[in-house]
Amino acid sequence: MSVAPTGFRPGLEGVPATQSAISNIDGQRGILSYRGYRIEDLAARSSFLETAYLLIWGELPDPEKLRDFQYDVQMHRRVSFRIRDMLKCFPASGHPMDALQASAASLGLFYANRALDDEDYIRGAVMRLLAKIPTMLAAFHMIRRGQDPIQPRDDLPYASNFLYMLTEREPDPLAARIFDACLVLHAEHTLNASTFSARVTASTLTDPYAVVASAVGTLAGPLHGGANEDVLLMLEEIGSEDRVEDFLDEAISARRKVMGFGHREYKVKDPRASILQGLAENLFDRFGHDKMYDVACRLEAVASERLGPKGIYPNVDFYSGLVYRKLGIPTDLFTPVFALARAAGWLAHWKEQLGANRIYRPTQLYTGASERDWLPLEQRCGDNEVPTG
Ligand code: CMC
Repeated sequence: MSVAPTGFRPGLEGVPATQSAISNIDGQRGILSYRGYRIEDLAARSSFLETAYLLIWGELPDPEKLRDFQYDVQMHRRVSFRIRDMLKCFPASGHPMDALQASAASLGLFYANRALDDEDYIRGAVMRLLAKIPTMLAAFHMIRRGQDPIQPRDDLPYASNFLYMLTEREPDPLAARIFDACLVLHAEHTLNASTFSARVTASTLTDPYAVVASAVGTLAGPLHGGANEDVLLMLEEIGSEDRVEDFLDEAISARRKVMGFGHREYKVKDPRASILQGLAENLFDRFGHDKMYDVACRLEAVASERLGPKGIYPNVDFYSGLVYRKLGIPTDLFTPVFALARAAGWLAHWKEQLGANRIYRPTQLYTGASERDWLPLEQRCGDNEVPTG
């Protein structure tokens, strides 16, 4: 980590920017917990909605609370025809993350009566966002293919309903269960870039739709959530196991990042990567092997020798794309699916931020020009070229 004499830490590495009771990472031991519960237990035993409830309200729900929460989310799944019409105006070639960011922000137009000190308003906003994000994403996907959006099915649980709206087929129960576990794994991850974005936006006391929209925009980049899409493109570029060593040599000598590897917090393999690897194997056993998985395993083995000594191991994005691909999810929906799940974490941080708010307003170290005299146009000479056009 580079620390300037002034204490400046690029990327705020190691700088505490909030207090939070939502999740915790032990990066040396590869442990992740939500509200004290290990991610392995939650992925194996809790549903995504149960996990979302835990993250947002701090405790696992009892059966009645869970039933009510599931029912309320189910009741808010439909979206206004105006949102569908808006999605129809987006270019079919546009990235679904951009469509998601715009549609999440647009909810603020429909639900404008902000009341941040009202628990009912907070609960309503949480339910609307968790309920409508999958519907809006699936609708954009159908519309860009020239088809009508598929209405949500009230008899299907959260994860199954999303896969149904995407494919118009009721998913196999194992596939639905694995997809739900993926949502649990992606639901929260301490103060990463998009969550920080969410908290900064929340700290201005704007509405929760703007909070989620700003976080979606931050998640989209290839160094953050966008990496899951790039991993699959990278595996395809490598093509076969025997190309792995050459690929890695070239990447290391060109100082190019290997996508799906490395993490600011983990210095060992990300526990979510290990769980996702297991889920991928379950899917392959049931629905047939993917030879890109062999390439991925080989890459992990070779990279562990070469990058492992620097603490660079697979992160959550390394195996998630292989799982999503086997579930029939198109590559450019991988990051939006990440966002769909992470909305739970962003909303938990929104609620927590409101509970002890102070607007974020860090300082900077000014590195620009000292004070200068303003010159009239005709006296300026051309030694300070600025690109035109
Ligand atoms: N491949 C090769 N070298 C790497 C990688 C990688 N994936 N990640 C880090 N390094 C090296 C980097 O070159 C640098 O080396 P040196 O000290 O010799 O200059 C050192 O490790 C530190 O890297 P950094 O970029 O300063 O580390 P960071 O903490 O700022 O970045 C990261 C963390 C996740 C952005 C980075 O590891 C990365 O770009 N990984 C690839 C993209 C990726 O998989 N992103 C998904 C992150 S996990 C899900 C999420 O949070 O969204």
